[in-house]
Formats: sequence, C-alpha cells, structure tokens
Amino acid sequence: MHDVWREVSRHLEIGESVEALFPRVAAHLPVRWVLVRRVTADRSRLETVGAGGDPAIEGLPLRTEVPAHQRAAFASWLEESQVTTWRGLGDRDGIRGLVAPLGGLLLAGALRHGDRVLGILAVGGEPALDDDRAVIEALLEPFATALINDGRLHELARLRERAEADNRALLSRLQRQDVSEAIVGAEAGLRTVMEQVDQVARTDAPVLILGETGSGKEVVARAIHQRSRRAEGPFLRINCGAIAPELVDSELFGHERGSFTGAVAARKGWFERSDGGTLFLDEVGDLPPAAQVRLLRVLQDGSFMRVGGQHVLTCDVRVVAATHRDLPGLVRSGTFREDLWYRISVFPIKLPPLRERQQDIPALARHFSERAGLRLSGLPIAPTRADLDALVAYPWPGNVREL
Ligand SMILES: Nc1ncnc2c1ncn2[C@@H]1O[C@H](COP(=O)(O)OP(=O)(O)OP(=O)(O)O)[C@@H](O)[C@H]1O
Ligand SMILES: [Mg+2]
Repeated sequence: MHDVWREVSRHLEIGESVEALFPRVAAHLPVRWVLVRRVTADRSRLETVGAGGDPAIEGLPLRTEVPAHQRAAFASWLEESQVTTWRGLGDRDGIRGLVAPLGGLLLAGALRHGDRVLGILAVGGEPALDDDRAVIEALLEPFATALINDGRLHELARLRERAEADNRALLSRLQRQDVSEAIVGAEAGLRTVMEQVDQVARTDAPVLILGETGSGKEVVARAIHQRSRRAEGPFLRINCGAIAPELVDSELFGHERGSFTGAVAARKGWFERSDGGTLFLDEVGDLPPAAQVRLLRVLQDGSFMRVGGQHVLTCDVRVVAATHRDLPGLVRSGTFREDLWYRISVFPIKLPPLRERQQDIPALARHFSERAGLRLSGLPIAPTRADLDALVAYPWPGNVREL
C-alpha cells in the first residue's frame, strides 16, 4: 500500500499513475489488468483515462454511453460502497458490460471524492483474486486520489489558459494607452510616414516597415493597428529572431497535445491568438527558412494547421513585418525567400533615421526629459538651449532609442 501511495504522489496525469501502479499491484496480487474510467456527473457516460496490464484492454472502447434503460441501475450500482465481483461471463443487470466488457474474473468499485462519484476502478484477474477483495477495496482510495490529482491538473491548465488570455487583453489595452501617448514628430519629420500609416490602416494589406535600429518601427506598427478596424482586437509582437528553429511551427501555428515531446497541453499559436487583430513579425529577416515556407502559405490563403492537428484552421490576421536588415540583399544571397518578400513588401514604409529628421530632435528631447524627470523626481525637466544644440548636432546611430 505504501508503494501504491508513493506512485500516486509521483504522477499528476492519471494515465501515468495507472501505468506505474499496475506493476506494483501485479507484484502482489494475481491481477491481469487494471482499468480506470471517469464517469460523467450525469452518469451517462464512461471514459477510459488509464489502463495497465493485458493488451486486451487496449481493444476496449474508450467511451461507453450508458443506455437510457440502464441509467438507473448503473447509478445505484455506483452508490454501493463495496467492490462487486463478477465471475465468468455473468452479467445479470448489464453493469459488467458497461464497466469492462471482458471475460474472466472482474472486480470493480466506484472512485469517490467525498460523496461525489468520479469514476470507477476495474480489475481483471485469476480466479484466486476473489480472495483479495479487501485489498482491491483498499485500492479505491489511492486510485481516487490519482483521479483527483489529474482533475486538478487539468483545472489548473484551464485556469492558466484563461489567465493568459486575460493577461493578453490587459496588456494590449495598456499598449493602446501607450500609443495614444503621442508619436513625436508626426506633423514634422514623420509626416510622410504617418500619411502612409493612415492610408494603409484602412486596408488589410500586409505592411513592411523598414528602418534602422531604434528608429520607431514598433511605434509605427502599433499606430497602424490602432488606426485600423482591428483596434479592439489583439496586437501581438513576435521576435522572429528569438524563436528556436525547431519550435517555429508550433509557435506560429500552435500544436495539439502530445504532438511532440514536451507538448503536454494543446497550445494556440501566434496566428490563432491574434485572430481579429494584428500580428507584428519583428525582425522578419531572421525568420528560419522552414518558417518562411509556412508563413508564405498562411499569407497566401489564410489557412494553416496546428502541429499534430487534423483540421485546417483559418484566421483573420493582418500581418505587419519589420526589419532593420537589407531584405533585398538577403533575397539576393538566398537567405530570404523571394516569393515571401513579394508577399510582405506590398506596402513598404521606410522610417527615416533620426539624423535625417533633425527637426524632431528638440521635441523628442523635451518629451523624454519631461517623462524621465517625472518618473525620477516627480518634476518635469526641460533641456536648455545649449543642450538642444548639442543633441541636434549629434548623429544618433541608435536613433530614437538612443536619444
Ligand atoms: N516618434 C516617436 N515618438 C516618441 N517615441 C518614439 C518615437 N519613435 C520611437 N520612439 C521610442 O523609441 C524607442 C524605440 O522605438 P521602437 O522600439 O519602435 O524602435 P525599433 O525601430 O523597433 O527598434 P529596434 O530596431 O531596435 O527594434 C521606443 O521606446 C519608442 O517608444
Ligand atoms: Mg523593434
């Protein structure tokens, strides 16, 4: 029993618990197989959630619907506190056929959490197992605990999914406030850029933002989202250079549970998560070759499949890409696919470096020093005339970020 409890505490997934428990039980009892099935709250269905031992149990149906005329009998059997024994093929009230339609000696009982029936434990074995009924009865509690752990694990996964979704919604609301915080130079050095932003925001066309590091590519991407019909939808930024090549597919398109080692739960990819909104592919020039192919496909027809998935999914996503690299050069050198370049460069927006819009430097400097002053001392700070002259004369290789 000690061993059994230890195994139960070692595993969270019921399938793993049962697999690990079977040999412990079989070492002491003439048991051939063990089966754990969840029972729905209305007692209308049984679902196999764990099995171990004789391969014959693998052939059993995973789901069993309890026919209407058997519901009452099945429900009252579940209320019995003792383990029931069936010998040979005897099955007076059809319960055995519902629990586990296999021949030989069968013992089964309900798994409970307090008064609530969660499932059943069924054990098949040699005729001698009949003498061990008390042991099987004692096993109900650890198996019920394993089932409870599993339920909690899945509840946690559900809660985490929901918390993540809430978090994303809150973040995108915060980002929206940031954006409304004003784009300095919109009427001056960025005038042409902002006109292009307004023009393209009305469409769903992909946009490619080009500009040196720190020049405001992300600011522009958010402005496009903000001014589009998708403003209330999600805005997600993904740094294409930061994804491991072997995970690119799963990151972009999601995966089904168990589709690869480590895929313990199904996960939505970036495309699904930004449905109805904008997906900002930052540093698109760093996208690994395999991902370029997949991205091309989704840009062509808006459809994709999750890794390990059975269904073609569609999504309504506007793609905005950005890069500080020389994409045409990458195309020439064969690092970036030409067909993908054509797809994403339909509407290019070129952000001028800060040294080519010196007229914005004083306004930016005032904007940042005011913010920094408030944050650090509670009082806004203003640059002097001499400060501004020095700032305007500097070439700003790191652009607005450096400033
Ligand atoms: N016109 C602007 N008005 C106010 N702040 C700006 C402006 N342009 C850029 N910034 C600020 O400068 C910083 C850099 O901008 P952003 O992150 O958009 O640059 P980037 O081109 O994406 O840079 P990188 O290539 O390094 O990713 C950010 O903090 C951003 O808020
Ligand atoms: Mg950026």
